[in-house]
Amino acid sequence: MFELNRIGLVHIELTNKCNAACPSCARNVFGKTIPWLVPRELYLEDIKRIFTDSSFNKSYPTRVKYCGNYGDPCVSRDIIEIVQWFKQTDKLNMREQIINTNGGMKNREFWKNLALEFKKEDNCGYVTFSIDGLEDTNHLYRKNVKWEKVWENLNTFVENGGNATWEFLVFGHNKHQVEEARKIAESLGVHFDPKRPLGFDTSGQLNSIASIPTYDRHGRYEYSLVSENSEINGVYIDESRIGERHTPPDKPYKREFLATDAEKEYAKNTTINCKSICGTYEKSHNFYLTSSGHILPCCFMHGSLESSAYNYSSHQLQNAVNLEDFNTATKSVDEILTSDQMFDTFFKNMNSKTLEDGKLLFCADHCGEGVPMDLLYKERDINE
Ligand SMILES: C[S@@+](CC[C@H](N)C(=O)[O-])C[C@H]1O[C@@H](n2cnc3c(N)ncnc32)[C@H](O)[C@@H]1O
Ligand code: SF4
Ligand code: SF4
Repeated sequence: MFELNRIGLVHIELTNKCNAACPSCARNVFGKTIPWLVPRELYLEDIKRIFTDSSFNKSYPTRVKYCGNYGDPCVSRDIIEIVQWFKQTDKLNMREQIINTNGGMKNREFWKNLALEFKKEDNCGYVTFSIDGLEDTNHLYRKNVKWEKVWENLNTFVENGGNATWEFLVFGHNKHQVEEARKIAESLGVHFDPKRPLGFDTSGQLNSIASIPTYDRHGRYEYSLVSENSEINGVYIDESRIGERHTPPDKPYKREFLATDAEKEYAKNTTINCKSICGTYEKSHNFYLTSSGHILPCCFMHGSLESSAYNYSSHQLQNAVNLEDFNTATKSVDEILTSDQMFDTFFKNMNSKTLEDGKLLFCADHCGEGVPMDLLYKERDINE
């Protein structure tokens, strides 16, 4: 259960708005933004209101990470003011701040001003640019991101002294560019971090999904993405899908899912090592704040809570969680983190043996042994 004197990471989704349309992102379905996603944003006033009553340990070093599930923090209006507020607040002992962005929005002035808040020599954090390839490949996953824009923004940030990381999701279509990108990053003085993307796995089975279909903004099948392990180099067109056209539903699907025998067995044999409270990596306690002002133990589950359930794991999670129990509009951060609802929903049954006993398959999938999430978080990372 959360202990307020060991809060080591506050992960904030500042907004659910984004300029991009990455195929595996929770904000998209069949190439379009999910229709029920109401645009939301936390402004400076919201952040002050939410954190003003918190009573975290002032001598425990805490990181603030701006990332999220449904949007890009750099699209938000007040990001620079919020970074500045966290620098000077006495609400926590700021260790560093971290931003994750596709980098393809706003102008030179914004990126210059952001760099001034993340000066390398100040050692106060860094901005991670999610750039999955080079000029001819980045847009294959980072749909709608214009190369000229992200390249200008990264360079403006670096030229103004900003501390940057280049995070590169490695797929079949960009694996041949990893070493070239690494060299470019080195020449810019930017930390380079290639990562294995999620989306090619199912419960307990790595690499069980051969390809990820992508759609244009009219819902028409375009091409399929493959993992770096594939024999296919590049994206490919799946003949059997040509002509497929999908219209997303206007609200999340309500479908019942039953756990398969394999899922039941997997859950039974998996020990959950919660990454939010003393998980595999650090002895600190970490939590996540959504752009709607709700607190969850981790960012992982947010993508399954506001989308259609797509398997037993997400279905079970949606049934278990009542988001309103964790709403900062009605309760303080301290109250929510230490509440019975937080304990009962996420932690009480974590060490149970079976799904029938309330063990969450979602938690087994994300914090069991040898899960895809561990392969994603392996280098210079929030959980190192
Ligand atoms: C939803 S994004 C929000 C932050 C920002 N919009 C961005 O993309 O960097 C959260 C993180 O998920 C990463 N991400 C996106 N698609 C992914 C995938 N298929 N596998 C693993 N990480 C992914 C992004 O690169 C980012 O670091
Ligand atoms: S840039 Fe981030 S938030 Fe935007 S669509 Fe891609 S993964 Fe999602
Ligand atoms: S998925 Fe479950 S076990 Fe993993 S960090 Fe989140 S709450 Fe903890």
